[in-house]
Amino acid sequence: MHSSSACPFAAALLLAKPLYAVPTPQGSSQALANPDFGPIVSESPYYSDYNGTTPPFPGNYTQPVFPTAKGPPGPDDLLFQNLAGAEWAIYNFYQFGVDTFNESAFVEAGYPNTTYQRIIEIRDNEAGHARLFEESISNTSTKPAQCKYKFGITTPVAFLAAHTIVEISSMAFLTGLILQAKLDSSKAALVAVAETESRHEAWGLIDIWQQSPFGGPVDTAFPYANEILDTTKVFIIPGSCPAGNPTYPVPSQTLPSLSYAQNSTTLLPGSPITFAFSNPANQPKFEDGKTYYAVYFHGLLNITEPFDTKTYASKVPPEFEAKGLFLAVIADAPGAPTIDSVVAGPLVIVEQPVEINSGIL
Ligand SMILES: *[C@@H]1O[C@H](CO)[C@@H](O)[C@H](O)[C@H]1NC(C)=O
Ligand SMILES: *[C@@H]1O[C@H](CO)[C@@H](O)[C@H](O)[C@H]1NC(C)=O
Ligand SMILES: *[C@@H]1O[C@H](CO)[C@@H](O)[C@H](O)[C@H]1NC(C)=O
Ligand SMILES: *[C@@H]1O[C@H](CO)[C@@H](O)[C@H](O)[C@H]1NC(C)=O
Ligand SMILES: *[C@@H]1O[C@H](CO)[C@@H](O)[C@H](O)[C@H]1NC(C)=O
Ligand SMILES: *[C@@H]1O[C@H](CO)[C@@H](O)[C@H](O)[C@H]1NC(C)=O
Ligand SMILES: *[C@@H]1O[C@H](CO)[C@@H](O)[C@H](O)[C@H]1NC(C)=O
Repeated sequence: MHSSSACPFAAALLLAKPLYAVPTPQGSSQALANPDFGPIVSESPYYSDYNGTTPPFPGNYTQPVFPTAKGPPGPDDLLFQNLAGAEWAIYNFYQFGVDTFNESAFVEAGYPNTTYQRIIEIRDNEAGHARLFEESISNTSTKPAQCKYKFGITTPVAFLAAHTIVEISSMAFLTGLILQAKLDSSKAALVAVAETESRHEAWGLIDIWQQSPFGGPVDTAFPYANEILDTTKVFIIPGSCPAGNPTYPVPSQTLPSLSYAQNSTTLLPGSPITFAFSNPANQPKFEDGKTYYAVYFHGLLNITEPFDTKTYASKVPPEFEAKGLFLAVIADAPGAPTIDSVVAGPLVIVEQPVEINSGIL
């Protein structure tokens, strides 16, 4: 992937075409620069009602939208470019579900006969988010296109478990991104989208997992949102992002990814846990004689537990309620007070239903 400023094609487009009369060849992604092109979010019912199995707008476009105006980027362009990058992965996850399964696949696996239709509706909502985030990026910056993704999922239950993880983690990074937003209108947009993800999550808890839809009084706010975005890069097929796409995400710490030995823990509060670092090419380096900590986030709290740098052993905080989402990071200071204090992670731990983490996937 290249940064937008390094893309010669964008500059050529600007030079070759008068500013507000950019021709839009049929099928060109550049047509998306016009906010009136395609169904309008919150006017058209399309982003809930499109029942096709082929990709909905704007998922039927594959190239980035290059700037149509010169000037400095908008105050929240980088935030929305990062968010669009994440959204393309999420939208494609649901489109993958629509492509891979059908109504009978979910019914045969024991789920309600409305499941496939709900997946279609969520897919449509996510397409609407992609359009909303494109439009939130000003005309002086590139609007990223989707890449190609692999999810490694073959069964309906694995897909639905991943759905629950995707929705609750996106609620956490949307809240975290509010800390980066410059404009109050961007903050409101992030909350409004997180609310929609929360409805998706509640549907899964009721209809799929037959649990209470509620996750305690407050969901998890994680301040280092880009660290969650970074974890979604495992779904991108290497080299599949179109030329001219902005780098995703920016900034990126490319921290070692954090997982855990499945036979070591129930993941419930108070349970022991043995962490693991699943990417052999990106292992943490623990300095001799230095103390490292496992810091767990839930709701608006974080709790620090010991972390053994030799055995990778720690403990899920007994103080937390068994609700919603925990996020765990390895840090070189209690409470992971700065982004640079985080040395690995985050790990997403879903507590509702907690079995989602332990072997279904
Ligand atoms: C994408 O879908 C929209 C909405 O149906 C349609 O207007 C547009 O022509 C489609 N574009 C392509 C390239 O398929
Ligand atoms: C952005 O560019 C598009 C395409 O040229 C144009 O339709 C739209 O009005 C522009 N938006 C703003 C805010 O200038
Ligand atoms: C899509 O299907 C749902 C459920 O069957 C239905 O309510 C809705 O009207 C359909 N939308 C369109 C555009 O046909
Ligand atoms: C669902 O897919 C299966 C396997 O491809 C197929 O046999 C079945 O007819 C499909 N059912 C529907 C309702 O399309
Ligand atoms: C779907 O399931 C409900 C009950 O779970 C049943 O009443 C309804 O007839 C079913 N619909 C179809 C189309 O099978
Ligand atoms: C748990 O699994 C790991 C490998 O993933 C293995 O090394 C370890 O011995 C297992 N522990 C127990 C208690 O079975
Ligand atoms: C974790 O909690 C401590 C104590 O309340 C706080 O000082 C610290 O900033 C928190 N860490 C983060 C990343 O918010």
